[in-house]
Amino acid sequence: MYLGIDLGTSSMKCLLIGEEQELIKSVSSEEIPLTNLHTGWSEQDPRQWIKALDQCLLKLKKDIKLNQIKSISFSGHMHGATCIDKNNEVLRPCMMWNDTRSHQACKEIMSDSSVLDISGNIAMAGFTAPKVLWLKSNEQKIFDQIHKVLLPKDYLRLYLTGEYFSDLSDASGTYWLDVGHRKWSSVLLEASSMRLDQMPALCEGTEQTGILKKEIAEQYGFDASCKVYGGAGDNAAAAVGLGLYEEGDASLSLGTSGVIFGSTKSFLNNYDDAIHSFCHCLPDTWHLMSVMLSCTSNVNWFINTFDSSINEITEKLSKVLSSKEEINNAPYFLPYLTGERTPINDPHARASFHQMGIDSDRTSLIYALIEGISFGLNDNYQALSKTGIKLENIYAIGGGSKNDSWLKLLASILNRNLSLTDASEAMAAYGAARIAFMGFNNLKPKESLSAPKVIKTIERDPKLSDLLNERFQNWKNFYIKEE
Ligand code: XUL
Repeated sequence: MYLGIDLGTSSMKCLLIGEEQELIKSVSSEEIPLTNLHTGWSEQDPRQWIKALDQCLLKLKKDIKLNQIKSISFSGHMHGATCIDKNNEVLRPCMMWNDTRSHQACKEIMSDSSVLDISGNIAMAGFTAPKVLWLKSNEQKIFDQIHKVLLPKDYLRLYLTGEYFSDLSDASGTYWLDVGHRKWSSVLLEASSMRLDQMPALCEGTEQTGILKKEIAEQYGFDASCKVYGGAGDNAAAAVGLGLYEEGDASLSLGTSGVIFGSTKSFLNNYDDAIHSFCHCLPDTWHLMSVMLSCTSNVNWFINTFDSSINEITEKLSKVLSSKEEINNAPYFLPYLTGERTPINDPHARASFHQMGIDSDRTSLIYALIEGISFGLNDNYQALSKTGIKLENIYAIGGGSKNDSWLKLLASILNRNLSLTDASEAMAAYGAARIAFMGFNNLKPKESLSAPKVIKTIERDPKLSDLLNERFQNWKNFYIKEE
């Protein structure tokens, strides 16, 4: 058996697979709390991650003898700065991927424009390096004690094995990595006042990074030789879960954030439009990714604020979609509840409805909400396409992909068909387990990753495409960057 540990933003999942990569068991922890002390801040206490891991392992242990597990790997939310001192004590709460306080530090880092080509990315407020530079200016005492900065899932590895490692996909999101050459960059480290010795060692996702500590193996009943492999950032792990590593295959994830992910055989970039250009967790493979910070969180916001429901949204969306006139009369919505990365890179952007008339009602606002999120995703898709990446098969995944009307709207605005797979929700955890399997059995992607099974194709509607495209051009005019 092989164990994937996925440290998600709101909870942890642990998932076991067998020798045929079949699912054996999956468990989740209780919710992991996030604290937002000030606007734009988002922190988590790493001790809560250990607690979540303990909950998951105890749940697994109830039904499964953990000494059957041959290897373990990880997936985790990316970019978090987990700063530890020389005794491996956490110095302060982890500043998370959606923490935007460090926007000023991003400008400082990018004052030397050579950083762009080394990283392949612009420094964005969610990335690790600007957060650490923020610490230097605002919490100097803590900054001075930093022995290592670990990404969230790599802190779990330290707890389990005592080793400092990070895989290349997750390390790409720090802004300390020379992404093209797959190594730490002294120029990027210096740009945020960091040193190489403060970095963990780098590995490919499928490389071994040690074995479990004796006391951990004994505590949970693991075999003493249980091996631990590199793992991946959550998006790369989900891609492995889906079987995406060939150029041409891409995923469109409709979750809290909206992510379009495509694998590439070389290092491509489009930093002008805030495309993320990262290493994949598999050797000699990279990936490009657009990130929309608020995707289904816009839907949840609407539901909570206006006492709505998924059913109401589904029903009203499909009603409007059947009437050209209602679409034409609908207001517009900018989906920037928590700022935006691709393509505008503006942590201060906020959501807004536009062009409401006296006849705008609940139904037309719901339509505008979903259309606005879809337009944001189309903006992401166009930015991604500028890199020259091949996007032949796009698999829609995540909570939002359960809504056929939304997918129809999306396929029509993207002007291409979308595939639905039999994939479960726990793709990142499954990907982590697959990485553990590949590493332990020394398998290449071709030998171990099957392509996703398509269960349905959502076809674009050409008439709707024309109409939406006109509205998209109007929508583009509503966002104005405040300098
Ligand atoms: C990717 C990103 C998010 C987080 C949380 O750049 O910030 O996808 O990894 O899931």
